[in-house]
Amino acid sequence: MTIQWFPGHMTKARRQIEEKLKLIDVVIELLDARIPLSSRNPMVDEILKDKPRLVLLNKNDLADPQVTADWVKYFADQGLPALPIDAATGTHVKEILPRVKQLWAHKIERQLSKGINPRAVRALIVGIPNVGKSTLINQLAGKKIAATGDKPGVTKGQQWIKVGTEMDLLDTPGILWPKFEDQMVGMRLAATGAIKEELLHLDEIALFVVKYMVQNYGAGIQERFGVQDLPEDLDDIQEMVKVMEAIGRKRGAIVSGGKVDLDKASLIIIRELRAGKMGRISLEKPSDKR
Ligand code: G4P
Repeated sequence: MTIQWFPGHMTKARRQIEEKLKLIDVVIELLDARIPLSSRNPMVDEILKDKPRLVLLNKNDLADPQVTADWVKYFADQGLPALPIDAATGTHVKEILPRVKQLWAHKIERQLSKGINPRAVRALIVGIPNVGKSTLINQLAGKKIAATGDKPGVTKGQQWIKVGTEMDLLDTPGILWPKFEDQMVGMRLAATGAIKEELLHLDEIALFVVKYMVQNYGAGIQERFGVQDLPEDLDDIQEMVKVMEAIGRKRGAIVSGGKVDLDKASLIIIRELRAGKMGRISLEKPSDKR
């Protein structure tokens, strides 16, 4: 799916989320653990206002655990509890309910003090396309729910999914849009598969990945692809291309005459990154310059 958000789309998506917000107590904001800020809607605070919110750093199986720990601290410093999970395997998914309940505990206590039997906390999952919303809903539901996430939703007749007896989850997530006018944000979204690579050139994305890996995961590149010397100057494109060529050669992306097919090498780099074959790699750190 090509994501091209126009102002009309954004207004509509925002209106749909605002409709859903009226029905719920707590928002579960799903981000990609590898690129938490780039996979975040920049207007999210304005849209969600003061709804209690739990941040989930999904696809943590693919992210660098140390960097993820830094992100958890980053969000905690902003007063937002954050939990790393893998929605696909269900790792840490069981910790979501107690965290959501914590955010709603004051309301439950108030109801109890008035002698009212507290109802289940109502939650909504929001996030950009491809971040794992449907996967998480299915995990929480414990069964396969029809993937209605990408279809325009109407709040009328909204279905609730029971997560145990203590949480009700809206069955259609709130779809937010990423903002990728910033070139680096666009690169990170494309590298992780959040936006179609057709929007950017494959070799450009691969070059971005290689540069980031040389800078942050150099030993891994050397070990995995047998690259001897890594470029010292990160802005030396010629040298970076040599690294891409070395990877391509190692993976057999050779055309007649023994030259490396850079397009093929680029595809291999991106596929291996997305499949976690190059190890657990994060493409954004809290300390990155913005
Ligand atoms: P969405 O509703 O937010 O749009 O996302 P969805 O659940 O459809 O998930 C998008 C892709 O991300 C799916 O891959 C899904 O399996 C994968 N995914 C979700 N959670 C995790 C996770 O914790 N770890 C990993 N490694 N992958 C996860 P897909 O069906 O293969 O789609 P695609 O990769 O071809 O786009």
